Amino acid sequence: MNIIWNKISGQFHLYNERISYIIGVAPGGELTNLYYGKRIHDRDDFSYVLFRMGMPNVVVDADTESYSMELNRQEYPSFGTTDFGTQAYEIETVNGSRISSFAYKSHKIYSGKGSLNGLPALYADDSEAMTLEIVLEDEIAKVSVTLFYTIFDRFPVIARHTRFTNCGDSKVRLIKALSCCLDLPDQDYEMVQFTGAWARERMPQTRRLCNGITSVESKRGVSSANFNPFIIIKRPNTDDFAGEAIGFSLVYSGNFIATAEGGTHGRMRILMGINPDRFTWILNGEETFETPEAVMAITDKGLNDLSQTYHRLYNNNLVRGKWKNQPRPILNNNWEATFMDFTEEKILRIAKKAKEAGIELFVLDDGWFGERNDDFAGLGDWIENPKKLPQGMAGLASKITAMGMKFGFWIEPEMVNPNSNLYRRHPDWVLVAPGRKASLGRHQLVLDFSREEVVDHIYNMLHKVIYGAPISYIKWDMNRSLTEVFSNELTSEEQGMVYHKYVMGVYDLYSRLTEAFPDILFESCSSGGNRFDAGMLYWAPQAWCSDNTDAIDRIRIQYGSSYGYPIASIGSHVSAVPNQQTGRSTSIATRANVAYFGTFGYELDLNELSEKEFEEVKEQIRFMKKYRELIQFGDFYRLRSPFETDQAAWMAVSEDKKRAVVGFYCLRANVNTLPGFLKLRGLNENTLYKMEDGEFYGDELMNMGITLSRFYKKGFTISEDFSSFVTVLEAKE
Ligand code: GLA
Repeated sequence: MNIIWNKISGQFHLYNERISYIIGVAPGGELTNLYYGKRIHDRDDFSYVLFRMGMPNVVVDADTESYSMELNRQEYPSFGTTDFGTQAYEIETVNGSRISSFAYKSHKIYSGKGSLNGLPALYADDSEAMTLEIVLEDEIAKVSVTLFYTIFDRFPVIARHTRFTNCGDSKVRLIKALSCCLDLPDQDYEMVQFTGAWARERMPQTRRLCNGITSVESKRGVSSANFNPFIIIKRPNTDDFAGEAIGFSLVYSGNFIATAEGGTHGRMRILMGINPDRFTWILNGEETFETPEAVMAITDKGLNDLSQTYHRLYNNNLVRGKWKNQPRPILNNNWEATFMDFTEEKILRIAKKAKEAGIELFVLDDGWFGERNDDFAGLGDWIENPKKLPQGMAGLASKITAMGMKFGFWIEPEMVNPNSNLYRRHPDWVLVAPGRKASLGRHQLVLDFSREEVVDHIYNMLHKVIYGAPISYIKWDMNRSLTEVFSNELTSEEQGMVYHKYVMGVYDLYSRLTEAFPDILFESCSSGGNRFDAGMLYWAPQAWCSDNTDAIDRIRIQYGSSYGYPIASIGSHVSAVPNQQTGRSTSIATRANVAYFGTFGYELDLNELSEKEFEEVKEQIRFMKKYRELIQFGDFYRLRSPFETDQAAWMAVSEDKKRAVVGFYCLRANVNTLPGFLKLRGLNENTLYKMEDGEFYGDELMNMGITLSRFYKKGFTISEDFSSFVTVLEAKE
């Protein structure tokens, strides 16, 4: 890994073993992208790739009269220039002008990587990464823009963000401030987006790119289940196993936009960052604004390779604290077992059985506080309900830990029910426009987390419940999108800051709680996967992937989630049948075979199972304890797509390639078909692997594949809906 600055050409070459990223300074002083792709040799000057030609209807730079931004690739284009593409940022000065021309001023190169002010971001020590900061200035607007590029040693990754500084005395308005722009030299690409809704999150969808704009975004105040802040730009023939692709992942949990724009002359521009719609940031003299970080990863080896880069990077350089690279505890959550209808006695009965099964962590979900007996009341009153918890949270936590399990509980700190003491006392603490009605979502309102005193109050209440009690885990939920986004605290011209300030308030509370209680494992949740993003992973190493716990639907949801997020981050549980969301019944074996490929746990009362099923559960827990480290942190390969076939398969391989776990699922039986083969991946060709029914060489398993009929004796059959198997490979010494 290195960053070279060529003094004569003024060009920067960031490279590691796999990639090169080359930036030049164009005649007008703005930055131009000269190359991004597979590692290439360095040379003194790459400016031969620039186009300096007169073309009809193209506007050129006034000094040279030969160079147009429109014909060349920009690093971070602004408004009012010869570019004409969608700009990465826009600044309005007091005279109403949004025209700017930012020119190179200075730069810094150093080892390691700095943190972002209050924002989640990748971190790296001096041996892991190098950072380039380039300062651009507009002397008329008196604003400077600092572009940050961090290249990682071990990963084909560049992380980018931008800092704006008002260097003058007059106020300026930041109308748009995206995190990154990448111009590619041709348009032969597709965009893969991860689309969905509640209970069907992160379904991959692919669109062919062409001239004009292809875009995904969220305006809900959360990153959203509708469109995930992760996209892949790939060649049309790229699949999981081969081909070129670039991933863009935003480390942010609020409104975002990701855009691909094909320009007239063949350029393809990719932009990502905070959604400019409803965003304006006021910068007074000397003030700065930092954008969230965008993480670009690149591959020429297919989408499994791209995903593995994100998995390793996020496990090693995003997730922090005690749970970094730690196998996740196997938990039992009471939600689908009791909903809010429980007593301490009932919980202890469920917990006792959980302990007997080998569960490590018991989680008390919604309903323990205030007057919370249904969806209509209690949110905001973070005080134990003595009818349900006679000795408080500390009392229940002590009883459960005395059984030999860890204990954790559910919160939804950003919300308030109109029927709550908090709302009665502070009706002005919610997001609502003056004189208007606030819309309701699940009978609740959104607290104005852009206000410090609101965040302070919630922090103090939660601190009281957690402090002194043996709490090991917290599930932080967020069950509605933001509407009527107006803050009583801010002036009329500052209202464009509320969405982002809200997210910063959420991050502030996370930061304070994780600092006060560093050993607690946080699991983020937002009606399942409505805020499943890289920003959350910085605070909460795992995320409840979806409220849909149906094993068959979950295959698709987890398959889609695996493109951009580590398996260790995917909250996945076995729940009761018929399934609460779909009414579908699947075997306890298939439910576990799906849930293994995530954090693993149970979302049911184990007392309700037959004795035979309970014995199976004990075995499942034993299995997961043995293999979770490999599954959660190994190299994950998608093998067969449930979006393209009636089957699905995936596998995890240990780093040393000595062990692997394969999961295979029949989503829909097809009559009168042969079972066929499944080709494995990521093994050592010359290693002999032991499987349940024999020994096979890696090359055999990867090229010839495993015959699926071999697993029929385990109860799996291709001619039965929802049938599945999980099998283990161990290298022979
Ligand atoms: C949301 C979550 C569920 C559960 C309920 C509790 O829907 O996604 O897992 O915690 O809230 O109200």
